[in-house]
Amino acid sequence: MALVTTKQLMLDAQKGGYAIGAFNVENMEMVQAVVAAAEELKSPVIMQTTPSTVKYADLAYFYANVRAAAEMASVPVVMHLDHGSSFELAMRALRVGYTSIMIDGSHEGFAENIAVTKAVVDACHPSKVPVEAELGKVGGKEDDLDGGEGDGYTVPSEALEFVNATGVDSLAVAIGTAHGVYKGVPKLDVNRLSEIREVVSVPLVLHGTSGVPDDAVRECIRRGICKVNYATDLRIAFTKGVKEVLDANPETIDPKKYNACGREYVKQYVMGKMEVCGSVGKA
Ligand code: 13P
Repeated sequence: MALVTTKQLMLDAQKGGYAIGAFNVENMEMVQAVVAAAEELKSPVIMQTTPSTVKYADLAYFYANVRAAAEMASVPVVMHLDHGSSFELAMRALRVGYTSIMIDGSHEGFAENIAVTKAVVDACHPSKVPVEAELGKVGGKEDDLDGGEGDGYTVPSEALEFVNATGVDSLAVAIGTAHGVYKGVPKLDVNRLSEIREVVSVPLVLHGTSGVPDDAVRECIRRGICKVNYATDLRIAFTKGVKEVLDANPETIDPKKYNACGREYVKQYVMGKMEVCGSVGKA
């Protein structure tokens, strides 16, 4: 089917008490892996690309890959811009055909974050493309940027003001997760998540989920998370598959051989996380 937006998918997830997995893709094989997992489990799915990914290969390449995958699939697929770093990049993604856009003004002050988010919302909504924003700072190594320790947790009263002022469709919250590989087991402030949920009605998004224990993710979904982002663990799974083939057969020169193994490992990983999100059978 044609690409869909995050709007209805996330509202359905919110109503049904589950979440949609959002998986960062960095090459064609990862796109194939994610859509194959979604097909096998009859799960809606979001694929997303960060600014560093679309610097490596233009937005148009990823859009074409994901659109082709969606058109061959029977489940709903979204193409989302993850951590849109500027108004200009968000507009390029909109023009290319992305069906969901994040503008991440969380590195700015509160007023500046509101201003850039509202500008993107005003530009995207006439085309019915929903917008995700971030309030508070999810720490760790996000894309190519080091976000530090991430002690700027989302303040519930600010979240309410932010959503009202911007008209944003979903909100990424900082409750103790971080991007990249965790040094220990992350401690999540789930009470803060519930407090945000009580005052904010739009669907909430969890970033930095690679390495977060599955039970903690389930608890976050129970408390209002409707979109769960996984990136680092897909890289790890893909690279493991490639290395395995090259270690066993160092003379291999056909990229299809080692990429296929990476693709299979990503598919298995994604299927596991769709179970955690509770999205299996929801397509
Ligand atoms: P991880 O790399 O920690 O899974 O974070 C993913 C993410 O939040 C992408 O926006």
